[in-house]
Amino acid sequence: MTHPATASLAALQPRRPRDTLGRPLRDLRISVTDRCNFRCPYCMPRERFHEHYRFLKTAERLSFDEVVRLTRLFLQLGVQKLRITGGEPLLRAGLSELIGDLTTLPGVDDIALTTNGVLLAQHAVELRAAGLQRVTVSLDSLDPAVFARMAGDLGSPAEVLEGIAAAQRAGLTPIKVNVVVQRGVNEHTVLPLIEHFRGSGVIVRLIEYMDVGTRNDWQLAQVVPSRELAALINTRWPINALERHYRAEVAERYAFADGQGELGFISSVSQPFCSDCSRARLSSDGVLYTCLFATQGLDLRAPLRAGASDAELLESIRGCWEKRGDRYSELRGTAAPPGAPRIEMNQLGG
Ligand code: GTP
Ligand code: 5AD
Ligand code: SF4
Ligand code: SF4
Repeated sequence: MTHPATASLAALQPRRPRDTLGRPLRDLRISVTDRCNFRCPYCMPRERFHEHYRFLKTAERLSFDEVVRLTRLFLQLGVQKLRITGGEPLLRAGLSELIGDLTTLPGVDDIALTTNGVLLAQHAVELRAAGLQRVTVSLDSLDPAVFARMAGDLGSPAEVLEGIAAAQRAGLTPIKVNVVVQRGVNEHTVLPLIEHFRGSGVIVRLIEYMDVGTRNDWQLAQVVPSRELAALINTRWPINALERHYRAEVAERYAFADGQGELGFISSVSQPFCSDCSRARLSSDGVLYTCLFATQGLDLRAPLRAGASDAELLESIRGCWEKRGDRYSELRGTAAPPGAPRIEMNQLGG
């Protein structure tokens, strides 16, 4: 028999939603800014994100208090994992304060940050002190010319490596390095990058280039399938497949047979992983998106600022998730006509 006290506690606990495909809500990716100090052509091409581009104004962005309030509600609906993204999240002043507040919320199992690494050396110690557990750093190539081409002539591999070293010293581990691989652009620099990090404890993850947003003129021919890269790596350093840590993990994990660490492949083009996708995304202006490729989202900022109660906000988030049927990567090409409006990568941070 359920103890009366337990029963009343359960009644207080909001019902955890499942979407139309039975998927729970487990991860929340929180974008804290749409700005970035890079101009990667595949994400924020310089021609479109120029000096007159209208980024969000301070008042349009959620304040830290608003982010914390919404996150608390998401946690009540089953979220366990938080990831802070941007644009470049370290451009948001006082980010460590937000992280400090988020880590104290009940139900947070994992809190990580995805950054391009340039400001990491400056912030690693304070981020760790605030309670951040780990960081993932985007680094497409160690070759300065290839890096410059892929980051839009801003930053340098040396600065990013300095950031990674600082994060390692601060204990923001395990550090992952995300490499977006593009055919004919950086594919030839993948092996040297892996060689650099082998044995260092840093986990390199090779990402298939995706058709996110509407601004990067993506073409399938630019994608290097993970299988091809795995075969190439395996001839140089034999690798063995590892179990996923949990069902909804995006990366397939491999270990170097000689014990020099781990490697991951994120293959959303060649092997979509929508069937286990439990990720919600909150843009910096407070819109909830249930897919990286969403064409529209649910505005939470308006009700929040109009004085909605927690119960009302919980209901709209739950309703949104329960209606969700997204599986864009599985339907790629058939889901939406090319050119249809879509959320941009700098608004969601991946
Ligand atoms: P951990 O495994 O927890 O470290 O994080 P993660 O891999 O989920 O996050 P990260 O920010 O490092 O993202 C890695 C890559 O996977 C990025 O290119 C993301 O855009 C992509 N990605 C993450 N989640 C999804 C998803 O739900 N769908 C698709 N298609 N891509 C995703
Ligand atoms: N395809 C795949 N990954 C991308 N990222 C940004 N744009 C794309 C894209 N079109 C990656 C970034 C970062 C992560 C959050 O998403 O490099 O590591
Ligand atoms: Fe900035 Fe990351 Fe986009 Fe590059 S991929 S422009 S670093 S947000
Ligand atoms: Fe999830 Fe959408 Fe990515 Fe599929 S395409 S894994 S539904 S975010």
